[in-house]
Amino acid sequence: MKCFLKWAVPSVVVLMGFIFWYRYSSSWVQWSHQPLQYLPNMHRTESLKPQRGYDFFENFSAARIPPAGSVAREQNPTVYVGASVRAEDVAKTSAPLAVSRELLLRGQFVYNNNCIVCHGRDGNGNGSIVGAFPNPPSLNSEKIRGFADSQIFHIITNGQNTMGAYGPQIRESDRWAVVKFVRVLHLASAPSDEDLRAFEAVLKGANP
Ligand code: HEC
Repeated sequence: MKCFLKWAVPSVVVLMGFIFWYRYSSSWVQWSHQPLQYLPNMHRTESLKPQRGYDFFENFSAARIPPAGSVAREQNPTVYVGASVRAEDVAKTSAPLAVSRELLLRGQFVYNNNCIVCHGRDGNGNGSIVGAFPNPPSLNSEKIRGFADSQIFHIITNGQNTMGAYGPQIRESDRWAVVKFVRVLHLASAPSDEDLRAFEAVLKGANP
């Protein structure tokens, strides 16, 4: 037994040493110049670096051009059709956010910061800029009331004729929040009897 251990232990050590050497022998040159790298293939991955050249592809670019029609994750494909498409032709979808008090207050905040100067407090197009800028149409028109959320979102994102695009200024979730706030303006400008009764009930509840 002793005799066996005498040989077995050094053999295992030598064998492990050999395996270790064999495993990393391809990076021997690099080893001789650099400190020990554990698992160098993790350190030096095969992944392509952004903004670098790569001669595998025809255009020698490591960055790939997305195929036409590809949609980024969590992006709503129906509304990112570009500025050249009229709002009337945008697919009709609802805002992908649940309406809550917070969302509407956020929408009001974003509206007051970005839209109120032209479209006015009530959305009727009587903002403080009127006179210096072409009068905007009312947001409470039958046309905009009939628009789907996605169509209003499209106008905010891409602009329309004299109105500039707000996509670059307002983040996506805030643009949806504004769309929902425009719905609040719709309600406020022409409330139904039922809406008024509900509103009165809230007022009475708040100030008994
Ligand atoms: C600098 C002034 C200005 C600002 C700020 C502005 N708009 Fe407009 N908006 C206009 C004008 C002018 C038009 C009419 C454009 C046209 O001739 O089609 C318009 C059109 C629209 C329309 C389409 C109305 C229709 O009947 O076709 C919507 C919806 C709209 N704006 C929403 C918004 C929202 C929401 C914001 C804020 C994120 C905003 N606008 C900011 C000036 C403005």
